[in-house]
Amino acid sequence: MTFSFVDFRDLAAVENAINENTKMIFSEVPTNPTLNLCDLSAISDIAKRHGLLHACDSTFATPLMIRPMDFGVDLVIQVRKKECLIDEYCIIAIMLCYAVLPHN
Ligand SMILES: Cc1ncc(COP(=O)(O)O)c(C=O)c1O
Repeated sequence: MTFSFVDFRDLAAVENAINENTKMIFSEVPTNPTLNLCDLSAISDIAKRHGLLHACDSTFATPLMIRPMDFGVDLVIQVRKKECLIDEYCIIAIMLCYAVLPHN
């Protein structure tokens, strides 16, 4: 798997990073720790125009603050981690993903 990093505040850079092997745009909003925001709807539009999935990690915002599917995102990642240590051996972590698939 290969990937390119882009600044999602620069929509031209997002579009320019797409090549014939691209399958998915993976955004993060807001970014942790810099708290940058991006235009999720515009990025979803770019993804649709190129037949790509748009996945978004919005862990930092929680669903209370940002609901990415309202902005055309196909796959949302929310990581919630509660650590349970028993003699330092047990860690419990939860990762929630919700998706609308396949792409229309
Ligand atoms: C955007 C984002 N994704 C994922 C995570 C979860 O990271 P980790 O599994 O390292 O706690 C965090 C934690 O703050 C986050 O801000």
